[in-house]
Amino acid sequence: MSQPVQAPSVYPASDEFVASAHVDAAGYEAMYSASAADPAAFWAEHGKRIDWIKPYTKVKNTSFEPGNISIKWFEDGQLNVSANCVDRHMTTRANQTAIIWEPDHPDTPALHITYAQLLENTCRMANVLKAHGVTKGDRVVIYLPMIPEAAYAMLACARIGAIHSIVFAGFSPDALSNRINDSEAKCVITADFAPRGGRKTALKANTDAALLHCDDRVKCLVVKHTGDQTSWVSGRDIDVKAEMAEVSPYCSYVEVNAEDPLFILYTSGSTGKPKGVVHTSGGYLVYASMTHQMTFDYHDGDVFWCTADVGWVTGHSYIIYGPLANGATTIMFEGVPTYPDAGRFWEVCAKHKVNQFYTAPTAIRALMGQGAEWVEKHDLSSLKLLGSVGEPINPEAWNWYNTHVGKGKCPIVDTFWQTETGGHLITPLPGAVPQKPGSATMPFFGVKPVILDAATAEVQTETAAEGVLCITDSWPGQMRTLWGDHARFEEAYFSQYPGYYFTGDGCRRDADGYYWITGRVDDVINVSGHRMGTAEVESALVAHSMVAEAAVVGYPHEIKGQGIYAYVTLMNDVEPTDELRKDLVKWVRQEIGPIASPDLIQWSPGLPKTRSGKIMRRILRKIAENDYDALGDISTLADPSVVEELIANRMNRR
Ligand code: PRX
Repeated sequence: MSQPVQAPSVYPASDEFVASAHVDAAGYEAMYSASAADPAAFWAEHGKRIDWIKPYTKVKNTSFEPGNISIKWFEDGQLNVSANCVDRHMTTRANQTAIIWEPDHPDTPALHITYAQLLENTCRMANVLKAHGVTKGDRVVIYLPMIPEAAYAMLACARIGAIHSIVFAGFSPDALSNRINDSEAKCVITADFAPRGGRKTALKANTDAALLHCDDRVKCLVVKHTGDQTSWVSGRDIDVKAEMAEVSPYCSYVEVNAEDPLFILYTSGSTGKPKGVVHTSGGYLVYASMTHQMTFDYHDGDVFWCTADVGWVTGHSYIIYGPLANGATTIMFEGVPTYPDAGRFWEVCAKHKVNQFYTAPTAIRALMGQGAEWVEKHDLSSLKLLGSVGEPINPEAWNWYNTHVGKGKCPIVDTFWQTETGGHLITPLPGAVPQKPGSATMPFFGVKPVILDAATAEVQTETAAEGVLCITDSWPGQMRTLWGDHARFEEAYFSQYPGYYFTGDGCRRDADGYYWITGRVDDVINVSGHRMGTAEVESALVAHSMVAEAAVVGYPHEIKGQGIYAYVTLMNDVEPTDELRKDLVKWVRQEIGPIASPDLIQWSPGLPKTRSGKIMRRILRKIAENDYDALGDISTLADPSVVEELIANRMNRR
């Protein structure tokens, strides 16, 4: 009797792929060992991949020592990031396409922006910013759709040494004003409307609402993108395109120090308000460009597509800074994977002959649900490599991606990293490390992961191990601080496991030394690859006049990875109705943005609390997961009977 054919659990790249790869297995071994043995020597060499106005003599000056967390790379070097991403390509690739802009609707023509045009538009945007008083060190908030002006704005800030802080266009006016105020931004760059999936978000109206809560001196630079009517505050609002047309197309770049901030990007933590992650110029760019080239095995002339939004770190590092520093052709896509139909991603891949395609598991799962026929309709023969980011990829989605999109011939790089890490931390180098579906595999150069026992903090020395993932030493792309709050930076990342950078993720290492990320171990959830602090959703809920208390946890969701499950205790005398449930969802969307919408709301007259009043989230998570048989010890609860009530009325029955 013949045996059923077992899918192989390890997938090496083809000989053909390996033959032309930047790094093969032996190369990875040698380079990784060198990077671990003498990081300063390793990065002294690789720091040269970018142009320095004044070369560095000091390479690494970093400390994870409690009370003295300090991270500096290339600290006496000077450079300009915009010059590295644009000007330096002028002699060799002025007429090469830098950015292909693919609009929301396929009938609108795509734009092919050459490096020469990118330089001119960046300079024009920089001159507009300068005309409105923006200078080195000032903060500029960018609240734009995925349009070329977003790239011009980022590079224009970098050109004049201003620090950008992008706010994802799906965030609410409240979220926007908080970020403008926290960073004390001098201006915000927005657009009239953001078309996405055939709908339009009123970005200018959102910005107007946000600016009601900001300093009157904050200027509002508006890109008239759709041309639809908006309100206009004279003296405050500025027509960016009109001014760009008027100003000089030349703007010299300033010299910045390697450790001068390049951008702030707010991200969710397990407690309190979002944290302003600060990345600086030199180390970040070296790391973004090197990971872009090595992880995606990017070669000159390739067309690279990262489907993220520039509002997230993935867009910063792998749509803009990494690819452009490498002189790549990078795609900026304004739309969504399912508009006008579920074949859009593949249509765009075929249209622009994409070579490397990088997306999130949630998108793959959603498209998988629409059927493989949408993929088969399009010619995907240009694809050489696929990537995944944002959450662990489940084997079913991996197999579908591999079979239908990659046709079994494209390596899949499962890249584990974070807003805080600037670039890939654990990822296969495709020509070097055979993939295992669901594993991010091996550390990038210079990254030293360790697995600690979550409770005892003991380093797990066996190869096969499980615990929390920490990093023992710095790498150039690491964040430097939290904007205006270095103490919180130390507290959030270095206090729980002193001496280490704590990722917040659980992790397993198998007997082959492969790393498998098992998900967050703190109160951060990952919804459709978007990071969300449960505390943020809770504070939005309790800000509603009818809500007395709320506890939010994640639960497994087929498409989103995790869904948002909210337990809500209403004020006395408030009737729980379906209407109110809808109101609360709407309320959270307004307070934070649509990505924070609770999927399930359970009315909870009581929440499980310890006698000291602490909510036992472990129990709430189990009930939300529909796994209430394994609640563990509930004897320490002040009132164990609330648990039965919660189980009886749980929302996630299967
Ligand atoms: O839990 C990990 C998960 O996403 C978190 C970081 O989220 P964010 O800062 O928004 O950055 C997302 C894009 C870089 C991590 O702590 N995560 C990210 N990539 C992976 C992942 N989990 C498993 N596998 C991945 N490849």
